[in-house]
Amino acid sequence: MYTPNFLILLLLFQQSIRLDAIDTRYVWGYQCLENKCVKTKITSENQNSILALQVCRLYCYEDIGTLWPIPTGNIVNSKTIVQFNSQSINVESELLFDNKYFIEAVNRFKDMQLKKIPSKYPLISGGKRLNVTINVETNDTILNYDTNESYQLTLIEESNQLRVTITAKNFFGARHALETLSQLIVHDELNRQLVTLSSVSISDEPKFKHRGISMDTSRTFFSVDVIKRTINGLAMAKLNNFHWHITDAQSFPMEMKKHSDLTKYGAYSHKKIYKVEDIQDIVEYAKARGVKVIPEFDLPAHIGEGWQKKKEHLTTCLNYKPYLKYCWQPPCGHVNPTVDEVYDVLEDIYKEMIDIFNPPAFHTGGDEIFFSCWNSSESLRQWMTDKGWTLDEEHFMKLWGQFQTRAQERLDKVSNGNLPLIIWTSELTEEPYVSEYLDKSRYIIQVWTDYKDVRIQRLLESGYRLIISNYDALYLDCGYGSWASDGYIWCSPYHEWQKIYQNSLDQLGGERVNQIFGAEATIWSESIDERNIDARIWPRASALAERLWSNPSEHWRRAEPRLLMHTDYLKIVGDLTAEPLQHEWCIHNEGLCQL
Ligand SMILES: *[C@@H]1O[C@H](CO)[C@@H](O)[C@H](O)[C@H]1NC(C)=O
Ligand SMILES: *[C@@H]1O[C@H](CO)[C@@H](O)[C@H](O)[C@H]1NC(C)=O
Ligand SMILES: *[C@@H]1O[C@H](CO)[C@@H](O)[C@H](O)[C@H]1NC(C)=O
Ligand SMILES: *[C@@H]1O[C@H](CO)[C@@H](O)[C@H](O)[C@H]1NC(C)=O
Repeated sequence: MYTPNFLILLLLFQQSIRLDAIDTRYVWGYQCLENKCVKTKITSENQNSILALQVCRLYCYEDIGTLWPIPTGNIVNSKTIVQFNSQSINVESELLFDNKYFIEAVNRFKDMQLKKIPSKYPLISGGKRLNVTINVETNDTILNYDTNESYQLTLIEESNQLRVTITAKNFFGARHALETLSQLIVHDELNRQLVTLSSVSISDEPKFKHRGISMDTSRTFFSVDVIKRTINGLAMAKLNNFHWHITDAQSFPMEMKKHSDLTKYGAYSHKKIYKVEDIQDIVEYAKARGVKVIPEFDLPAHIGEGWQKKKEHLTTCLNYKPYLKYCWQPPCGHVNPTVDEVYDVLEDIYKEMIDIFNPPAFHTGGDEIFFSCWNSSESLRQWMTDKGWTLDEEHFMKLWGQFQTRAQERLDKVSNGNLPLIIWTSELTEEPYVSEYLDKSRYIIQVWTDYKDVRIQRLLESGYRLIISNYDALYLDCGYGSWASDGYIWCSPYHEWQKIYQNSLDQLGGERVNQIFGAEATIWSESIDERNIDARIWPRASALAERLWSNPSEHWRRAEPRLLMHTDYLKIVGDLTAEPLQHEWCIHNEGLCQL
C-alpha cells in the first residue's frame, strides 16, 4: 500500500547523497502528495522531499507520468529514484549485435539521453551504469502487418549497475522497449542529474497495427531532413506508419529513371526532387525507427504537373480552366483510361517505385475522380461510344472500375503479386462497385469520410478492412484559412487533441473492430511548409498514437498531464517545434487549469 510518510523517509534516505547538489537558484520544486505533483516552496526543512517536476511525474503516479503512449500491459513502479550515468550506457543483444538497424537504434538511444542535458548546466558526475540486455527470438527485420511489436522490460537497481532486460519477438518490439526506457529517464534539474526509477516492470503491445500519418510532398516539397525529423517523431510516439503521398497534380518530385520527363517537367525546381538515394535513405531511416514507409501513387485523378509531355493522348483535362468544373484544385488532370499505353507507363512507374521503396503495402490513391474531366475528351467519348456504352454515370463507373483492375494487374506484375493495396474511399468503394472491382483480400480501404458516415458501416459489413482517417478528427490541416478564398477551408473547424484522443475506433467498428487496421492523421500541405509543419502535426499525432497503441478507456482529462510532459519531450529530445497545448503555468500547477 502507498504510504506517503514512509515514502518520504525512503526518499530521504535515497536522496541523501544528492542533497549537496541541489541548485540553490531554485525557489520552487514539487512534492508528491496524494498522487499529485504539488508545487512547493523549497525550504531547508522540506528539501529532502522536493523533486524536480519531471522527476515527480516519473515517480508519483502508478502509471508513470512520463510515458506516452501508456503501456497496455502491467506497469510496476518502485517509486524510488536513482541517478544514472549518461556516459556509461551498454546495450547488448546476442542475436542482433551486428544488425545495422539495431546499431542505429542503440546509437540513437544514447544520443537521446544526451539531448536531455541542458548545454548551459552540465550534470554533476556520478550515477550508475545502465546495462541493457536484449533478448529476441529472431534476427529477421521484416516490417509488415504481421510484425509482432510486443515487448517486456524490467529495470532493477543492482549494487554496481542499473540492469535492464528487454524481451521481444524481434528487433521492432525491442526498439519500442528502448523508446519506453528513454521515457523513463528524465533530467532532474534541481540536482543536475539524469535519473530513473530503481525498479520497473512493463509489458506492452499495441492494440492496432496500423498507426500513422500521411504526408503530402507534392503541394509543398519538404527536405529529406524534415521528413526524417517527422519520422523520428513518429518513432518517439510508437507510430509505425509513414504514408508518403509523394506525387499529386501540383508537382512530381519523385525521381523516375525511365520516364524522367515526369520529374523534369513536374518538380518545382531541380533542387526539389527526391532522388532514388534520398528515398532509400528515408526508408532505411524509418525502418531503424520501426516505421513502415507506404508510398502512394495517386491515380487516375490527381495528376498534372509532369505529365505535359505525355499530354496529347495519355491525359484528359490537363490544366483546364475554370478548374472547379474538372477538379477540386488546380491544376486539373486525369490519366486517360482508354489508352493502352497509359498502362505501360504505369507499369514502368510502379516497377521503379517497388524497386526503390520495397514497400510492405502500396497505396493506389483513387480519390476525387471527376467524370467531367474524362468526359471532356473527344477520343475518350468516342472509345466509350464505340463499345456501345452510353455517356452516363453508369458507364463512367465501369470505365473507372476497369481502370483500377488494369492498373492493379500492372502493379501485381512488377511486385510479388500479393502486396496489400490501399485505396481512398470514393464512389468506387460503394456497392455494387466495391464488390465488383476491389478484392477484399487485397484492398484495405482508407476512409476519409466523417465519423458518422453510414458508408463506413457498409464497408465493414461487406467485410472490408479499413484504415480510418475521418476528416472530422484526423485531418490536421482543418481550421485554418482558405487558400483559395476568404473564410476557412472545407473541413474546419480545427481538431483539437482532445477530439483526436476521443475518436474511438471501438465504437466505430463495434463487433467488427478487428477489421479496422488502425488510423492515420493526414497533413495536406496547401498551407504548410518546413517552418510550420511540426506544429501542425505535434503533439496531435501523439494523441492519435495513444488512441491506437493503448486504446485507453480513460478520458482525455486523465491523459492530459502526461501529454504535456510528452510534448516537452518531443521538443527537447526530438527537436520538434510542437505546438503548446497550455501555457507553462498550467504545466507547473497540475489540475488547476482544466475546467
Ligand atoms: C551487463 O550485465 C550482465 C549481467 O549482470 C553482465 O554479465 C555484463 O558483463 C554486463 N555488461 C557490462 C558491459 O557491464
Ligand atoms: C541472422 O543470424 C544468422 C546466424 O547468426 C546469420 O547467418 C544471418 O545472416 C543473420 N541474418 C540477418 C538478417 O542478420
Ligand atoms: C506477440 O507476441 C506476444 C508474445 O509472444 C504474444 O503474447 C502476442 O499475442 C503476440 N501478438 C500478436 C498480435 O500476435
Ligand atoms: C458527358 O457529356 C455528354 C455530352 O457530350 C453528356 O450528354 C453526358 O451527360 C456527359 N456525361 C456525364 C457523366 O456527365
